[in-house]
Amino acid sequence: MAFRFNFFIDENENNEPDTNDKMDLQLCSPKQKQESAEKSKQAADTVADSSLRLSTDKHQDETSKKKLCLKAAKEHNIPEDLNKVLENKVLETVSDLYYINMSAVEMTCLDGGDEEGIVSKSVSSHSDLIPGVYEGGLKIWECTFDLIEYFSEAEIEFTNKTVLDLGCGAGLLGIVALRGKAEKVHFQDYNSTVIDKITLPNVVANCLNESSRGDSGDRKTSKPPLKRPRKAECLPDVLTKCRFFSGEWSEVSQLLLSSNKPFSKYDIILTSETIYNPDYYSALHDTLAQLLDRNGHVYLASKAHYFGVGGGIYLFEKFIEERNVFRSSIVKIIDKGLQRCIMEMAFKDSS
Ligand SMILES: C[S@@+](CC[C@H](N)C(=O)[O-])C[C@H]1O[C@@H](n2cnc3c(N)ncnc32)[C@H](O)[C@@H]1O
Repeated sequence: MAFRFNFFIDENENNEPDTNDKMDLQLCSPKQKQESAEKSKQAADTVADSSLRLSTDKHQDETSKKKLCLKAAKEHNIPEDLNKVLENKVLETVSDLYYINMSAVEMTCLDGGDEEGIVSKSVSSHSDLIPGVYEGGLKIWECTFDLIEYFSEAEIEFTNKTVLDLGCGAGLLGIVALRGKAEKVHFQDYNSTVIDKITLPNVVANCLNESSRGDSGDRKTSKPPLKRPRKAECLPDVLTKCRFFSGEWSEVSQLLLSSNKPFSKYDIILTSETIYNPDYYSALHDTLAQLLDRNGHVYLASKAHYFGVGGGIYLFEKFIEERNVFRSSIVKIIDKGLQRCIMEMAFKDSS
């Protein structure tokens, strides 16, 4: 099956995406006006991930262009009553980490608990990605686990570091950094529903559990996760290190840099399965360049190639080379099935 993705950038004051047609899209930002650039990509089968499903419209018309707006950035406050965050949630564990079971969330979202409507859109279009509408954060993608494994193999040190989990979805990377005693961890996802219904509950569940483990710091001797985290009586200290953001990358970057709240650039930016769409490379690259500390590092996990969307690690590597801002190296290749990679990036002029 062949897939086409056509993106346009235009100005539109209405920030509500029209999602009826999922393949002919017009991207617009209230802050940006760029020249229209049509790109069309074709690929054979859409099997980037064992379960990756991309939205398609078989009856699309070459000339019909739907308007789609880049999502404005928003900071999500941590609710005072943490027990409410976990109410009616079913928790599972993987790699010693809590995560919210998606099926239960799906039910509440389909019942009206999802203002963005991404759950129903994803379900009705049988799609894990609807460009500019839903970017895949409701499920945990496999490269997340590659990166978690790499952290231990390479002994990546998070202690006292400022960390951003960019395109966080479930937020497991940031949660691992929190456990590694990072000084602060910020989480960003395109969709506010993902932050509210998945990321925040996951972080809360892990933080509550973490505080009930005590502070021995020894992962090997610590107890396995409880079936349910303790009831929260107050905001655990570790949660005060976290901030949560939704929105498109350049919008989030602007929000952080122009905010009244103090902001220091990140020592470490973690990002998994975020380079599938070449149309986003410029925004992603510039966001990394704007938010990473001069001597910081990016750890990026990705498939070698995303069939059906066209992106992949080698295309992004070439993009980085052309921009000439970062040096990059592929530090691990996982050759099981579809090739996956871990890339490390740092500023060219960094120490
Ligand atoms: C495929 S999901 C991966 C989620 C998670 N990192 C994982 O590995 O499970 C891609 C994520 O990238 C983010 N993303 C993709 N394109 C984006 C864009 N243009 N602006 C902001 N975020 C974007 C979304 O937040 C989305 O959750």
